[in-house]
Amino acid sequence: MAASILNADFAELHSEIACIEGVADVLHLDVMDGNFVPNLTFGPLVARAIRGITDMPLDVHLMVMNPERYIGEFAEAGADWISIHVEAASQGEKALRDIRERGLKAGLALNPATGTREMRRFLSLIDFAVVMTVVPGFGGQSLIREALGKVRQLKDMAGGDGGELEVEVDGGVKASNLPEVMREGADIVVVGSSIFTARDRRAAALEIRGIMDNKEGMLL
Ligand code: DX5
Ligand code: ZN
Repeated sequence: MAASILNADFAELHSEIACIEGVADVLHLDVMDGNFVPNLTFGPLVARAIRGITDMPLDVHLMVMNPERYIGEFAEAGADWISIHVEAASQGEKALRDIRERGLKAGLALNPATGTREMRRFLSLIDFAVVMTVVPGFGGQSLIREALGKVRQLKDMAGGDGGELEVEVDGGVKASNLPEVMREGADIVVVGSSIFTARDRRAAALEIRGIMDNKEGMLL
């Protein structure tokens, strides 16, 4: 499980992250530029600060225009995975190659309205795909279940080329819909507000963990 800090209390980020140590596998950092998405969140400065307070892998989700400009800064800040959006991938090949050349996992995200055919030309350049199940920009939205079919589509597309593609589902995942998301084949789930708006963050994360552990085959 990748915990998104988007709805965490940023005045208490250290203790918020400490709450989920040992329960979340990965920390999901939602970077937004106020251009690709209406919201503006944080940049490499915050990623670097977070790097200094946790050993969890950092899954940096770039919801930005021209992501190729930022790969180096987030890599140097301590990112382990960096995903960019296919809708902002005019220099996508350059960005994805850069991520991999730095030894990081390269991901490509697609919005609910974007079809999987847009991903085909990038499949050999990525380690994971991100199926957005909310319109990106804000946490706390409801899961768009119509997007879940893309998980299988992407796996079949990659499988056809003999590849093994991990698929992360991002947006609106909570305990109540997690079994369905897992049945659709997600390898990694991002969970944000259902953890960081819960009174007891750790208990909320443990509940998610418990559901995932009941299903073999889940990666993270
Ligand atoms: C949305 C972000 C997601 C989302 C996850 O643009 O990419 O990571 O915030 O948070 P919840 O689980 O609250 O949807
Ligand atoms: Zn995200």
